Amino acid sequence: MVKICCIGAGYVGGPTMAVIALKCPAVEVVVVDISVARITAWNSEQLPIYEPGLDDVVKQCRGRNLFFSTDIEKHIARADIIFVSVNTPTKTRGLGAGKAADLTYWENAARMIADVAKGDKIVVEKSTVPVKTAEAIEKILIHNSRGVNFQILSNPEFLAEGTAIQDLFSPDRVLIGGRETPEGKKAVQALKQVYANWVPEDRIITTNLWSAELSKLAANAFLAQRISSVNAISALCEATGADVAEVAYAIGKDTRIGPRFLSASVGFGGSCFQKDILNLVYICECHGLPEVANYWKDVIKINDYQKSRFVNRVVSSMFNTVSEKKIAVLGFAFKKDTGDTRETPAIDVCKGLLGDKAKVCVYDPQVTEEQIQRDLALNKFDWDHPLHLQPMGATEVKPVAVTRDAYEATKGAHAVCILTEWDEFKKLDYVRIYEGMQKPAFIFDGRNVVDAQQLREIGFIVYSIGKPLDSWLVDTPAVV
Ligand code: NAD
Ligand code: UDX
Repeated sequence: MVKICCIGAGYVGGPTMAVIALKCPAVEVVVVDISVARITAWNSEQLPIYEPGLDDVVKQCRGRNLFFSTDIEKHIARADIIFVSVNTPTKTRGLGAGKAADLTYWENAARMIADVAKGDKIVVEKSTVPVKTAEAIEKILIHNSRGVNFQILSNPEFLAEGTAIQDLFSPDRVLIGGRETPEGKKAVQALKQVYANWVPEDRIITTNLWSAELSKLAANAFLAQRISSVNAISALCEATGADVAEVAYAIGKDTRIGPRFLSASVGFGGSCFQKDILNLVYICECHGLPEVANYWKDVIKINDYQKSRFVNRVVSSMFNTVSEKKIAVLGFAFKKDTGDTRETPAIDVCKGLLGDKAKVCVYDPQVTEEQIQRDLALNKFDWDHPLHLQPMGATEVKPVAVTRDAYEATKGAHAVCILTEWDEFKKLDYVRIYEGMQKPAFIFDGRNVVDAQQLREIGFIVYSIGKPLDSWLVDTPAVV
């Protein structure tokens, strides 16, 4: 029986390994982590992450050929293939701070593998890492190996949160990069065989190590670039009376452009896009390519602009002040169908509103109050470290109120900001919400999920990203 160990039981390690276990009954899969709380949750009825379909997959194979454990050394020693799926945060201090990837967790994992391995191992980079990380990892492993042979493979993960199980069941492609030596090719084949249990062969791409590592960063940069492109156009739509949904539809009909990933929004969030672009920017700078670095940096600049543009629109529409006004924020997760809040635009929007002294009240169906308060108290990039390494006291500060109900959040509010596209926000009783709010009652839809015309008929003043503006909003001072 092939034995797989995955180091890191997070958003990637957990679902990816659960699907491998489900699809490969002849493979034993153990997911290990330094976080006792996370492993305990994986072994309980309340999994540590919310992901549609995940519970069902875990229930089918946990205890059969899928295990979660904190006994990292034991399971590394037993495994034939070791996936490393630890976090690779943006560095917050030292060389490359604010851009480069912090590979501390990766290096610790590699040293642990070198320490405990007694037989030959295939080590798979599942985390997103800078190009050439495999070379560094190879050096650590080989110089500490005591005669054991290691083959390093790059097998970046392309799942998106909220659709992770679907993406893993039917991936557009699986990418495996390896050394072009006979041993390297053999290792690539061994990993390919695992995926071949359910992924059609023509969707399994094999490349050299550096192409695989770079493809992951490039794919995220391209996806984020599409969102920044449509968001940039959304600002122009508001200025001209064009409708961004109509423009996106029209351009997406061009098969060379395609319809997906063209929804204008308050800005992209998530643990990957910003981190991976910053990483790409840093690599370009290190290779003496400042023009290329600046090109990609602008994707993030537009994203930051879109978030601050949204806050400015809220404040300027409401007579240039939100001081002491209650503002309901509906949705805190970075997208629907996840409880994940990493780099969510809601953090910047809430901070912007708090900066103007608003009283913010948040409702999200999947995010806990503790998480929201923590996110608003943390410094940039601190979120991407295991909980026990985050600054103490972060949750003692309570910058916002949090409710478990959208109606309670909106009661007595001057404005509602919709920041996540949860389906339930489409079905709320907006007449009831309007009646409970201060007048004039504003809705700022950062995801274009509500029917603006219907809401206007109720009496709301509505702002939708990239859509023709209400006359009220046109008359307010220009947003800068
Ligand atoms: P995560 O923070 O949810 O999980 C990482 C886990 O690794 C944590 O539970 C942490 O405790 C554990 N860990 C850290 N060091 C360890 C060690 N030495 N030994 C054992 N466990 C250790 O992160 P994630 O979202 O799963 O992302 C992991 C990697 O995958 C990152 O490089 C990320 O960029 C990449 N990625 C993420 C996504 C996504 O949607 N989240 C998608 C594709 C790729
Ligand atoms: C992304 C990549 O899609 C995935 O392939 C990679 O493995 C990890 O990073 P994820 O961040 O989980 O996945 O979600 P994604 O669906 O890409 O959304 C990212 C952000 O962009 C979200 O905040 C989302 O709301 C936003 N978005 C997405 C838009 O604003 N408009 C769109 O059209 C699509």
